[in-house]
Amino acid sequence: MSQPGSLFDLSIEDAKARHVALVKDIRCHDAAYYQKDAPEVSDAQYDTLRRELEALEAAHPELVTPDSPTQTVGAKPSQGFKKVKHALPMLSLSNVFSEEELEDFIGRVRRFLGLSENKKVELLAEPKIDGLSCSLRYENRKLVLAATRGDGAEGEDITENVRTIKDVPQELPKDAPDILEVRGEIYMGRGNFAALNKRQEEAEDHVFANPRNAAAGSVRQLDSSITKSRPLHLFAYGVGEHDWNLKGSTQFDVIKALKKWGFQVTKQTGVFDGLEGLMKNYQVLLEQRVDLDYEIDGIVYKVNRLDWQERLGFVSRAPRWATAHKFPAEQAVTILKGIDIQVGRTGALTPVARLEPITVGGVVVSNATLHNEDEIERKGVRIGDTVVIQRAGDVIPQIVKVLEDKRTGKEKKFTFPDSCPVCDSLAIREDDDVVRRCTGGLICPAQAVERLKHFVSRLAFDIEGLGSKIIEQFYEEGLIKSPVDIFRLEECNVALDTPIREREGWGELSEKNLFASINERRNIAFNRFIYALGIRQVGEATAKRIAATYGSLESLKRAMEQAQDRESESYADLLAVEDIGPGVTDELLGFFAEDHNQEILSALEMQLSIEPYDVPEVGDSPIAGKTIVFTGVMEKMTRSEAKARAENMGAKVSGSVSKKTDYVVAGEDAGSKLKKAQELGVTTLTESQWLEMIGSS
Ligand code: IVH
Repeated sequence: MSQPGSLFDLSIEDAKARHVALVKDIRCHDAAYYQKDAPEVSDAQYDTLRRELEALEAAHPELVTPDSPTQTVGAKPSQGFKKVKHALPMLSLSNVFSEEELEDFIGRVRRFLGLSENKKVELLAEPKIDGLSCSLRYENRKLVLAATRGDGAEGEDITENVRTIKDVPQELPKDAPDILEVRGEIYMGRGNFAALNKRQEEAEDHVFANPRNAAAGSVRQLDSSITKSRPLHLFAYGVGEHDWNLKGSTQFDVIKALKKWGFQVTKQTGVFDGLEGLMKNYQVLLEQRVDLDYEIDGIVYKVNRLDWQERLGFVSRAPRWATAHKFPAEQAVTILKGIDIQVGRTGALTPVARLEPITVGGVVVSNATLHNEDEIERKGVRIGDTVVIQRAGDVIPQIVKVLEDKRTGKEKKFTFPDSCPVCDSLAIREDDDVVRRCTGGLICPAQAVERLKHFVSRLAFDIEGLGSKIIEQFYEEGLIKSPVDIFRLEECNVALDTPIREREGWGELSEKNLFASINERRNIAFNRFIYALGIRQVGEATAKRIAATYGSLESLKRAMEQAQDRESESYADLLAVEDIGPGVTDELLGFFAEDHNQEILSALEMQLSIEPYDVPEVGDSPIAGKTIVFTGVMEKMTRSEAKARAENMGAKVSGSVSKKTDYVVAGEDAGSKLKKAQELGVTTLTESQWLEMIGSS
């Protein structure tokens, strides 16, 4: 390769030829890196090419064109897509897998709404399309934004790409509302998928595993002309924010209107008012499934009446008014080659089955979870066995059973280790826990690495470019030992003998991008921060509860310090937080009592700006910020509905009465809680006073 110094010596013809070749090369590498997620050269090699181009252009400025890669830095696709906050969250769905579970779902809806036996509950049923969800925002009937779902609260702006999809109207007819967000699923038909893969294969280009990956890969192109060349479609299935008067309407009315306005909706949509009809419909669709041109992985049921949907609301990330009835998982037979033990962030030892690779439903599977020690015993799995495996959707593949008649006698029983395979500490099972855990705690590198992976994961800090492999590598090299090190990385890098950019597989560009995505996350929502800490039993929903209850890290720390005393009011308050039982309480107190954790928290506070939790907008609700306790039997609304309503209006609902309680709503037959409220002088309300207060009398 030419050295920069010799570039002046090139004849103008040679310089031109070299320039053309370099530009072409760099463009190809850009496409491989940014559009296919499959770089063909190391970052160092890529940087060398870019530096040569820069030097060549410095020596021959007449060669610089506006579209030269040197001129497009900044507008480089490295930034990816712009993040956008959804006006209304994009929810996920709970699942049912059987008739009984579907019956339970309907029962829950009935109970929540307090419906009488003879009242019919209509459900709209439509196929669950296996693609990627998208929100389309129309303002004054013009498409202004298309976004991916992302984490449900925030997605990516893919407007330019979605504009190339023919099923997406750019403009809506006059009778459509001024503000309308349409939610739908982008997918690729099976026929189109096969043809695309054939073309890709012939061009020695990336071949997609299934239509869903192909659709996702096509939508996430930084060059929308590539998206345009891909045969994508969209089915609309609902609406987000809107100013459409839907009083007295149903989900089915919404679907009909969307169809009228030019959206494609599924032909198999129907409305049913009983289990029998729903199950018949399920069987029909299950049979039709193979003949449809698009992949479906189940049926979505939605309570048809929109006023009921509103009353039902949602819990955590899924609506109470909808669920997905999943089709049976796809199965295959293969050989179990071995069992590895993985150590999770909480020390849990999980057995993982290593399988002879096999294709199940279009995806190559080479390992499956065995859950825990008892599961191996229960299934009678031996190494060398022929096993039936299954995978459903994105769920980790499972071993269903052993085909014992295929045994040759050479299969070996597996002995579960009683020490950690990574740090060698004792691994024990406590009381009736099914999980065996490494007792190494802070000294176990496996737990430390898993905690770090959790810390940067999507629902936590969501640091792009800091994937599992890199975390493992940086941990091993001592660059990142604790979460704080992530935010000190850029500073430390300067002092390193071999800075990151000079390491195998890295370059200036990728180093810069890494620091940029770390810095982008120095502002973090309080709930995400709590979730990131990886405290046992504190998942996303519990983290939100804690964030909403304590507001800031400062007050959470203070409360946890006081609550170490189990006689204190802080301890009682903690236990009274909705969904926080004694188990979570112990984990939280244990975490905050640990000096090492305190140190990390303080160090993180120096690096970060933790934003208070965004309590859902409550307007000027009279109960915003108040703590309410419900007791006794209510007449107009079930206790669950009352609770959900109060929370949606910004109140905290607690299970026990204390001095901090603002209102106790007492229905019929209220007992000790009402008495306690009276003793403490807490305001009590009757059901009708409560209904009046929330404007629902
Ligand atoms: S409704 C509030 N309807 O499934 C309900 N979702 O597991 C949220 N999906 O993210 C979605 N077909 O991407 C709904 N007919 C359908 C659907 C559907 C596919 C996807 C959607 C969603 C995911 C939830």
